[in-house]
Amino acid sequence: MITSERKMKNKLSLFAALLSLITFSFCSSSKKVSSTTSNEPAVMPSFTYEKDVAPMMLASCSPCHFPETGKKKLLDTYDATVNNIDDILIRVQLPIENDEYMPFKSKKPAFTDRQIAVLKKWQSEKMPR
Ligand code: HEC
Repeated sequence: MITSERKMKNKLSLFAALLSLITFSFCSSSKKVSSTTSNEPAVMPSFTYEKDVAPMMLASCSPCHFPETGKKKLLDTYDATVNNIDDILIRVQLPIENDEYMPFKSKKPAFTDRQIAVLKKWQSEKMPR
């Protein structure tokens, strides 16, 4: 009788130990996961004109630099963007009150810091289509 009771107790404490081990490892591993996913990756991925650059140019630089109503220098194609990339990067990083700041008079959404970083990275990788 006494030995079987003891066996039962042993089983129970083994079970409790296992349970706390599982709980502990689950908690510590989920902590690890959340701390790595909450930050932006340290290395930026690569960008292309079609997928990344063209949509942001359209959103911030149309209609003024796009055909339909564009009266200014056209910036609606890959070639035009590549040929003007230095000027584009200078203008979008000017102080907002500067007369040469683009988008002109803030009539369209300004490029975010991230969008400017995307443009710079794209330029540094020889501007893939
Ligand atoms: C609301 C209309 C408008 C929007 C939107 C706009 N621009 Fe302009 N842009 C102008 C005007 C007007 C000029 C001419 C005045 C000047 O040179 O400062 C100009 C001139 C420029 C020039 C110089 C062109 C040349 O002939 O040398 C560049 C480069 C330029 N814009 C880039 C951009 C970029 C990049 C965007 C989007 C982030 C943008 N613009 C958005 C109106 C606009």
